[in-house]
Amino acid sequence: MPAAVAQSPDTLSFGAGRPVPPCDVEMGQAMFDAVCWACHSADLRGGKGPPLTGPAFYKTWQGRRVEALSDLIRNTMPKDNPGLSERAARDVTAYIVAHANKPGNPAGGQAGK
Ligand code: HEC
Repeated sequence: MPAAVAQSPDTLSFGAGRPVPPCDVEMGQAMFDAVCWACHSADLRGGKGPPLTGPAFYKTWQGRRVEALSDLIRNTMPKDNPGLSERAARDVTAYIVAHANKPGNPAGGQAGK
């Protein structure tokens, strides 16, 4: 993924082909599909909780540090029973970014700066 080289993996950047934090996306997806989907839906488009994909979400988080999002998740999610390990929070963060940045994600696209 040559486009990834110029951008820091420490910074959140949403859009097809952009870098994904170097964590275990498959573990993150397994966690998401076991726990988070109940409120955020399996396609991340939201339900009881807000969407974790799409322009409004990208706009909120674009350019912020990966830790800011993984810390929020670790400290406050799952909303009914928070307390993920740091590792699990990072993996699920990587999954959220990978979902946004995979080619052809219909809710993907550029979020602006
Ligand atoms: C019981 C329902 C529920 C579950 C389960 C849940 N969430 Fe949430 N989530 C919410 C609600 C409601 C909000 C809105 C903010 C708030 O009320 O704290 C939210 C907000 C968020 C946000 C902030 C979104 C933004 O726009 O900035 C993120 C990120 C997030 N959740 C990730 C997760 C992840 C990852 C998991 C699984 C580990 C998870 N949530 C599980 C209900 C839930």
